[in-house]
Amino acid sequence: MAGLPISKTVVSRLVACAAALVSPCALAQTAPSGQPRFMGAGSCSGTACHAFTERKSTTKIQQNEWYTWLHDDPHPGSYMKLKGPGLQQMRANQIGANLGITGDAADSPRCLVCHAIDVPESRRAPSFEVSLGVGCEACHGASDYWLAPHSAPDWAKASESEKKDKAWVNMEDLVVRAERCLSCHLGDPTGEVGDGKRVFDHDLLGAGHPDLPFELERYLNGRTMKHHWLDPKDQDAWFGTRTWAVGEVVALDMQMKQLAEQATHAEGWGAWPEFSNFDCYDCHHIVNFEKNTPTWRQEQGTAAATSGKRTAGRPRWNASRSAVVRHLVERIAPNVASSLATEIAGFQKLMDRPSSNREAIAESAKRIARLLDDVKGKLSGGDSSVLDEQATRDLLLRISGDTQLSQSGVQTAKQAALSIESLYSTFWTATHSVQVSGDSTNDVRQQVNQLVDSTNNVELFNPKAFARALAELHQAFEKLGK
Ligand code: HEC
Ligand code: HEC
Ligand code: HEC
Ligand code: HEC
Repeated sequence: MAGLPISKTVVSRLVACAAALVSPCALAQTAPSGQPRFMGAGSCSGTACHAFTERKSTTKIQQNEWYTWLHDDPHPGSYMKLKGPGLQQMRANQIGANLGITGDAADSPRCLVCHAIDVPESRRAPSFEVSLGVGCEACHGASDYWLAPHSAPDWAKASESEKKDKAWVNMEDLVVRAERCLSCHLGDPTGEVGDGKRVFDHDLLGAGHPDLPFELERYLNGRTMKHHWLDPKDQDAWFGTRTWAVGEVVALDMQMKQLAEQATHAEGWGAWPEFSNFDCYDCHHIVNFEKNTPTWRQEQGTAAATSGKRTAGRPRWNASRSAVVRHLVERIAPNVASSLATEIAGFQKLMDRPSSNREAIAESAKRIARLLDDVKGKLSGGDSSVLDEQATRDLLLRISGDTQLSQSGVQTAKQAALSIESLYSTFWTATHSVQVSGDSTNDVRQQVNQLVDSTNNVELFNPKAFARALAELHQAFEKLGK
């Protein structure tokens, strides 16, 4: 956030707003009826509310959330990625222009829907400020109805459904949280999760927008976004496994819902087949006509064609999520595992001929999403016993033991490698008293890093070497905890 040009105006407004907000924190008036309004992030910055400069230790919450968000979180800067000075704005406008947007990207709903809170005028309270980007309410929900009550003592006693009725979003629930994050970090064209229809597609990529490589565990617990909350006291050592699991399942679920929408409603805003659903590097790679030995792509194409799985020479559906999620489902929801596997195999076949199977693809994608509900249910609410030490070890063994993972394209290999890295980090941290990072004495750690590295360069990726490295790790994991 350093050097953010709006910070001066924002801060002066903040002070004014804070002065106007004498304790108690309440400011909200209830809108006459209908959907709650967004009160704006400034409404949370009252002196007695969330804008202490220092963290408070006597209260249940830290009360310096506003400052943490403003200074150590990428989200308040989101709007400035569109409206920022010089090159920043030029870049955003260039992306916009490539998409046929006339005028500033910062005024286009196509961009604002993810880079700020973009709702109709009727849902913006006078205190609402679009320039604050992805503000508190983008995650915690429009605060019109809960702003006043949530600071009163009764709030703690209110039931989940009472809170939900007031449009409060329970971000403590990891599944709810993942859906919120992913509505912007993956896309939500139905608009069912967040506040607006968020479209992320190959048009946007082709126009120059960066890809969205969101991983819940990494993005949530990485260095970019400092936590403005206290992690739950009962948080166990295996929280990382749960976060990883939720991230994988919810991403697949939302990917399927997005795809169903794209397959049936593509006319309005994109193309079908929608390229971003396929393995990017099945198209984006250098071709070599000179070779007299077949490339690994040709070998894999031949194998798939002979077994009737797909036609050689066509891009594959990006199955990276489902290939990993399969192992999780087998572990925690064995009752759905085989129906899910069958459905996904059928879906993959349909995606071989995307244009002639639009309706069937959408239906199959929706069925996959429904099957995942069961799994989400098991992960929701945070029952820590489902994914413990044994489960983490078991997942490492299952993933490293899956020979198919080297045969399904670069993106699937990468997803598998990153999942192993994530799970192994959790395992290591939980079973050792010292931190993982920078420990070069740990051989398995190095093997894991090498596995990830081997998927970073698309042109150098070698499925056979990947399969060998995976098998070696499998052996190492068998000794874990013994
Ligand atoms: C589906 C949500 C979504 C939409 C729609 C969207 N963005 Fe983004 N944008 C993001 C996310 C999330 C990031 C951050 C990606 C990351 O770092 O993981 C981002 C990053 C960017 C960046 C790069 C910032 C940097 O520091 O490198 C630019 C520039 C940008 N967006 C411009 C635009 C423009 C212009 C539009 C409209 C044409 C747009 N975005 C539409 C979600 C979206
Ligand atoms: C990008 C999403 C996001 C944004 C934006 C965001 N939060 Fe949060 N917030 C979270 C998550 C995730 C949690 C942790 C789950 C929980 O405890 O509810 C959280 C928790 C909290 C908590 C509870 C802390 C605790 O320990 O129980 C408070 C208070 C809070 N946020 C206030 C704010 C305020 C004020 C803003 C704006 C200045 C804000 N949040 C912006 C995601 C967000
Ligand atoms: C309303 C849309 C929206 C929501 C909801 C949202 N984000 Fe973001 N997020 C963005 C945009 C846009 C950016 C790019 C901002 C920038 O580059 O300045 C971003 C950037 C980030 C970054 C920095 C990425 C990088 O490489 O610099 C992290 C980390 C992140 N978000 C995590 C989360 C998490 C975790 C959640 C859920 C708790 C979440 N986000 C919810 C829109 C959103
Ligand atoms: C079915 C083939 C296909 C798939 C799959 C595909 N693309 Fe593309 N991509 C193209 C074509 C064709 C273009 C247009 C090339 C041009 O504009 O010159 C393009 C253009 C691009 C561009 C802009 C041009 C450039 O090279 O910078 C980016 C970035 C891009 N794609 C990223 C991706 C990403 C990321 C994925 C996966 C999520 C992906 N593509 C999947 C075919 C594909």
